[in-house]
Amino acid sequence: MRVKLAHAERKDAVDIAALAQSLKLTDKSQKAGFLYYPHTAEDYAFIISLNNSVGDPFYVARDESNRLAGFIHGMEVRPRVPAYLSQHVESHEDLMYLYRNAPANFVFGEQIAVRPDLARRGLGSLLLNQMMRDAELSGVDDVYVSVLHSPVLNIASINFCEKFGFKLEREVRNNDGSAWGIYHASSHAELGEGK
Ligand SMILES: CC(C)(COP(=O)(O)OP(=O)(O)OC[C@H]1O[C@@H](n2cnc3c(N)ncnc32)[C@H](O)[C@@H]1OP(=O)(O)O)[C@@H](O)C(=O)NCCC(=O)NCCS
Repeated sequence: MRVKLAHAERKDAVDIAALAQSLKLTDKSQKAGFLYYPHTAEDYAFIISLNNSVGDPFYVARDESNRLAGFIHGMEVRPRVPAYLSQHVESHEDLMYLYRNAPANFVFGEQIAVRPDLARRGLGSLLLNQMMRDAELSGVDDVYVSVLHSPVLNIASINFCEKFGFKLEREVRNNDGSAWGIYHASSHAELGEGK
């Protein structure tokens, strides 16, 4: 399968939201995985702008007809702002420079989604590989993702992550009662190959 990987732009937000909403958890037997918190197009446009402004990952894959095939986004979690203030900062630009260039502590993968008619063809692997490679190139050792454990276990996503060497670190619970597994992998791990 030929797909083109690119950094997401704001104009991709409508297609991203349409794919995300189509994968929203509605049926507990969704064997190909699901998204629990799909966003609106406005929210994705905001996340894309934010990620692009600080260099956080947001990739889209488009097929030969230029239809959205999948996407992945995450964030590089950096030290808090006060850590920079102990350095030489004279302007807002100085602060932003330090923020953008500070090595992240870890990368947190937020959402990944692949169009169901293209599932199991290595596209998810291609997207995750890209985010892991970026992390490694930025000097970030640790990558975390969270996967829904309850009210429904996202087995497709767990299998997918485990293939990449992610291991369950702990389980956390959100205010809405949902439970999430926090999985960790090294960005230097040998990764699954895209097909
Ligand atoms: C999870 C998801 C991104 C995987 O994308 P994909 O393109 O199908 O993944 P790949 O083809 O690269 O699969 C790599 C491996 O992941 C595992 N895997 C992927 N989908 C699976 C499924 N439905 N059931 C079990 N294992 C699965 C398999 O080990 C697979 O290798 P194999 O096909 O050689 O057996 C995709 O199913 C998806 O978008 N699901 C809906 C959204 C979602 O669940 N996102 C994660 C939220 S945390």
